Amino acid sequence: MALFLLCYNLLLFIPGYYKYNTMNGILLAGGSGSRLFPATSVVSKQLLPVYDKPMIYYPLSTLMLLGIREILVISTPRDIPHIKKLLGNGAHWGIRLSYKEQNSPNGIAEAFLIAEDFIGNENVCLILGDNIFYMGSQLNVFSEVIGKNEGAIICGYHVTNPERYGIIEFDPNDTEKIVSIEEKPKSPKSNFAVVGLYFYTPDVTQKAKELRPSSRGELEITDLNIKYLQEGRIKMLRMCRGTAWLDAGTSDSLLDAAQFVQLIEKRQGLKISCVEEIALNRGFIDDQQFMKLIDTYKNESDYKKYLMNIMNER
Ligand code: G1P
Repeated sequence: MALFLLCYNLLLFIPGYYKYNTMNGILLAGGSGSRLFPATSVVSKQLLPVYDKPMIYYPLSTLMLLGIREILVISTPRDIPHIKKLLGNGAHWGIRLSYKEQNSPNGIAEAFLIAEDFIGNENVCLILGDNIFYMGSQLNVFSEVIGKNEGAIICGYHVTNPERYGIIEFDPNDTEKIVSIEEKPKSPKSNFAVVGLYFYTPDVTQKAKELRPSSRGELEITDLNIKYLQEGRIKMLRMCRGTAWLDAGTSDSLLDAAQFVQLIEKRQGLKISCVEEIALNRGFIDDQQFMKLIDTYKNESDYKKYLMNIMNER
């Protein structure tokens, strides 16, 4: 087993030799974090802690749980050096990370223009850097559907404050059929928000090129989704009750997210979005690589103790 993993991971890092997943991931960690000012005046929002780990670990781990190992991180010129310092090239977690800059906050859909070469002819998943998912086994259902993507797949989550999000309107006779998607509507047509996790076929780049900036000067992800809707090529995955979707873009939602993570972790003694644990459990790294990795964590932090305990319990 160890030999198999070694060979597999070696192949993984020979550029262009072996494509291990037909879907690549983009983690968009841009923006000025203005809603969190002054906490974000010198540091990226995505590097702020959500309870016991940096915010960016959460979306990164969602991609890893979806089996995505080739990931492009997009952030601002100011923040990329810090994010790179934290995450590196990903090899220690059995993934491959690359980085690109978004020079100004020109909107979520700009990610597909920045990532044009990275996407190439592969399907792609985009996750927003401040979105936290706690989905349990629903992720497996997602993986199946995503594998058969024929356009765009968005995920819907029931919220109490629909004015803040992209909102889905359904056909009253077919609650799976999307009729419209509106960005931050004043009179929302439902309580189903489009979460910051999207899946597209490679033509997404072409579609993003056709977009024009909205009244707030951004290339809107909602406008991109509308293009797929007009072609009848969009599907929605409903996140079921019992799953959690949190965004941590405001002071209140950041605190809510931290308290949610604390509550679950303290109760279960199991961490949410522990990237090292996910890398080990998914077979991205083997026991030896895991041990070597935690040896490099010098401080006797609770996080390191948790990782050591994983090995003791195996
Ligand atoms: C963005 C999207 C919105 C989506 C939300 C999810 O909004 O524009 O459609 O529902 O992310 O987090 P933002 O939070 O960037 O204003």
